[in-house]
Amino acid sequence: MSSFSEEWLRLRFPADKKARNKRLDKLFSRHILRFCETQSTVRIHDLAAGSGASLKALLPHLVQCQEQLSWCFYDNDPKLLAVSKEIAQREALSISPIICDLNIPEFFQTHSLVPAVTSSAFFDLVSESWIELLATYLLGVGSTALFSLTIDGRYELSPPHAFDTQVMFAVRQHQQKNKGFGPALGCEAAAFMIECFNKVGFTVLTGQSDWLLDYHDNQLQQELIQGWYSAALQMGLGESTLEVWRAFRLAALSKQESKIMLGHCDILINPN
Ligand SMILES: C[S@@+](CC[C@H](N)C(=O)[O-])C[C@H]1O[C@@H](n2cnc3c(N)ncnc32)[C@H](O)[C@@H]1O
Repeated sequence: MSSFSEEWLRLRFPADKKARNKRLDKLFSRHILRFCETQSTVRIHDLAAGSGASLKALLPHLVQCQEQLSWCFYDNDPKLLAVSKEIAQREALSISPIICDLNIPEFFQTHSLVPAVTSSAFFDLVSESWIELLATYLLGVGSTALFSLTIDGRYELSPPHAFDTQVMFAVRQHQQKNKGFGPALGCEAAAFMIECFNKVGFTVLTGQSDWLLDYHDNQLQQELIQGWYSAALQMGLGESTLEVWRAFRLAALSKQESKIMLGHCDILINPN
């Protein structure tokens, strides 16, 4: 299953929704409600929106000003963006899908990302220089932003296996391969973003949004294990080691004993 396919996004959505840091969701929504007091239309720009996971998670906090909101979905996958039409019709919302490559220098010159920006499950793909560009741009235009579900490198696999450390080390290396934005931040993303946003002068709030997966999430766990197997194999870890590791993990899964904690971080930035 590709990491950007609609199937994968649908599979991960319940875990993402449960994991999101509710305090930061509410604080961000409070900023939006405040904008709605003084502006007839308030734009929320969702970078790498995919099939609209951020909107679905934030909407319950924004019902009272829903009619004033105009959502702009930016993504380079037209198939994912097509779902915005369904959401717009079903929820009676204003959503503009914008097919674009976020990794072109002109992106920040051609779009006015005010007054609010959001994004989720995206920043492990980008490079340090892209985050620096984003931070400088957002401070310049004075936008508030909520960036949710960025992996931060923490994990716990239960029951433990002797090969966990080497497999996850190889997975981390794979996460830092180029995903179209230069060397990817991978699990360094959250720490780098926090440092960068502080450095340029934002007020930065952070909160954990860890995936806590148990037998209710067996299909998601299975996809993760398979994905980690393939990533580690690509990074040169021995196939026999990986076969032993995968067999152990899948056996624990079939006995409903497998649990996975995957560390994520949510980040709220405010220019004031
Ligand atoms: C893991 S998905 C997250 C989607 C959504 N934000 C969510 O939380 O479900 C990453 C998204 O980044 C988009 N993406 C990756 N590279 C991109 C690029 N260069 N320009 C625009 N979108 C990109 C993919 O199409 C995909 O929708």
